Amino acid sequence: MSFRSAFTPALRASRSAIRPAIRSRAAVRGYATEPAAKSSNNTLIYAALAAGVAGAGGYYFYGTDATPAERVEELKTAGREAEQIAEAKTGLGLKKKEDYQKVYNRIAEMLEVDDYDDGSLAPVLIRLAWHASGTYNAADNSGGSNYATMRFKPESEHGANNGLGIARDHMEKIKKEFPWISYGDLWTLGGVCAVQEAAGPIVPWRPGRIDGYDHHCTPDGRLPDGSKAQDHLRDIFYRMGFNDQEIVALSGAHAMGRCHTDRSGFDGPWTFSPTTFTNDYFKLLFDEKWSWRKWGGPAQFTDSKTKSLMMLPSDMSLTKDKEFKKHAKAYAEDQDLFFKDFAKVFNKLIELGVPKAQFASEPYHLKTMDEQDVAR
Ligand code: HEM
Repeated sequence: MSFRSAFTPALRASRSAIRPAIRSRAAVRGYATEPAAKSSNNTLIYAALAAGVAGAGGYYFYGTDATPAERVEELKTAGREAEQIAEAKTGLGLKKKEDYQKVYNRIAEMLEVDDYDDGSLAPVLIRLAWHASGTYNAADNSGGSNYATMRFKPESEHGANNGLGIARDHMEKIKKEFPWISYGDLWTLGGVCAVQEAAGPIVPWRPGRIDGYDHHCTPDGRLPDGSKAQDHLRDIFYRMGFNDQEIVALSGAHAMGRCHTDRSGFDGPWTFSPTTFTNDYFKLLFDEKWSWRKWGGPAQFTDSKTKSLMMLPSDMSLTKDKEFKKHAKAYAEDQDLFFKDFAKVFNKLIELGVPKAQFASEPYHLKTMDEQDVAR
């Protein structure tokens, strides 16, 4: 099935049913910020903020033991943070929703690639947005999507990020066309676009992330390991600030894409329609019989009927752990509920680590290509 033909009438119908609920102001109230303040003396505010934040920044990260080179790097970051905060507060230099819709449209236009995997880059773009954000540690506020540190070694070479060079290289083409967008904004927008264009829910998204430096890279080991089960998932996702229901909702992204032996070592797709966003992952978890696959690769499950699908040990733990199972069952039975919860939690994921002051607007609900009726 091609990526485009995957948009079935049934999915379109369920999509339009979910949209009004997701679009309502109430649904996004939790993420609202004050509107950007307008100032009669923007330049002064800008300069003051830049000086203030830059001054504080050096000591914040390196303390007084920093080498001159480290201080310079940190001052550069602090300068960018100040710039972004000043833009957010004053509205100066800010791009508008329409500008981001243009970037969205360009990403959407380039999702289909006939000779790549199942015909779409959407799954790997969702994985890029997730791995760029899922490094967050709530305890010290490090990691997350703010600095797009996966551009740098060592993070680009962390085992969990194998294969994401494909997604980063692809996004580089978009970046060349829209050089003003930060990598963090671009990658997270890519994930949102991929979910929406694959017939998933509308995910609120807003700009504000800044580009950091290699010293902002997070240590290896912050992303989950598919060979482990519920205790590990809780360790990893509680660290980011998620609860059990949110862990299960996020896991539903495995409706999309597949495992690759040359990336994670695992093999195969979770669902029969890996380029369409559905609740099939949850349905299949409960409806199929799963057994250990007999093969030379890492331990994974296969469906007894067709032997063409897979589940990771971490996926199977959603059916074994009592609390996880409760939510997984609910999502298997109600796709609208899954879509509503996924939109909310994916928005939370991609905003991890971004100082609220850097956001200039309430989250946008960018339109799908279908909604805009853009000829493709
Ligand atoms: C719950 C813990 C998770 C584990 C252990 C896990 C593990 C994995 C593994 C092993 C792969 C295969 C990579 C490859 O070989 O290409 C993968 C792919 C993927 N993951 Fe996860 N993941 C988890 C959570 C998530 C979350 C939270 C999201 C997004 C919200 C996500 C989205 C995806 C997508 C879309 C793919 C397919 C990528 C492609 O087709 O190229 N995963 N995941």
